[in-house]
Amino acid sequence: RLAAFFSVAVAVAAINTTQDPFEQWRGPEAGHVRGPCPFLNTFANHGFLPRSGKYITQKDLADGLFNAVHFDANISHFLFGFAVGTNPEPNSTWFSLDHLSRHNVLEHDASLSRVDAYVGHADVFNQQAFDETRSYWGDVVNVESGTASIISRMRTCKAANPKYSLSELGEGFILGETAAFISILGDAQSITVDKKLVEYLFQNERLPTKLGWKRSSTPFTTDLLLGNLDKVRLEYNKQLKSTLQRKRSGGFHLNGMV
Ligand code: HEM
Ligand code: MG
Repeated sequence: RLAAFFSVAVAVAAINTTQDPFEQWRGPEAGHVRGPCPFLNTFANHGFLPRSGKYITQKDLADGLFNAVHFDANISHFLFGFAVGTNPEPNSTWFSLDHLSRHNVLEHDASLSRVDAYVGHADVFNQQAFDETRSYWGDVVNVESGTASIISRMRTCKAANPKYSLSELGEGFILGETAAFISILGDAQSITVDKKLVEYLFQNERLPTKLGWKRSSTPFTTDLLLGNLDKVRLEYNKQLKSTLQRKRSGGFHLNGMV
């Protein structure tokens, strides 16, 4: 009897671990699509979103982001509104991850881990771009070092890309993306994150559970995202102003970025 109980318990435990989506990572297969967002790619690789990366509905996104990173329904609906606008079919009710790659709809120049669309594939991870980004980070990424990497990528991309452009929406997305990755992988209150977790996710498109990351027990909301975006924006304006001052005093050239 006891032996039977234990074998059932072991079998149940085995089923639980094999079904745990945090452990169910598989890279994309033939016919699957991925896009320029390292996080959405990651969620598809775990099956939190359709593994195909295709036909993602509002409910798919809300359920997936809730289960993966504890997003509340409001923020998922807010972001779905942007995403669905990248589907070339008007009034569609779904999007696919590769729709997000359409240049200057949401996809923008000066990405942290992708080259500009003018230069190459703006949807796939690029180690050289990401190495520049992370060269600004200490062991911990915070608002200051996160912003410094944004400004560096802007300068580098502008110098290399005669078609470089950044809309107001694109700039807002850039600042929001940094606010988001710090908040989701790290601490949304202090706006800090262990650099290793960020490197692992970007480079593997996998959640860093192996490195000790866990889904937050508190929900992530639109207010938290926009509040942290504001803090990144404040720091961004501050750093741009100080580079401008250096430029005026003749020590530094920004290629007319500001
Ligand atoms: C790119 C974070 C969800 C759309 C990015 C980037 C980060 C990020 C850090 C910048 C990558 C880079 O610069 O190399 C996150 C996080 C999410 C999330 C933490 C949720 C946990 C979403 C959702 C959408 C989205 C729901 C739907 C609209 C995009 C797009 C890009 C992007 C279009 C490409 C922008 C570009 O770099 O050109 N995301 N994202 N993301 N994300 Fe997400
Ligand atoms: Mg881009």
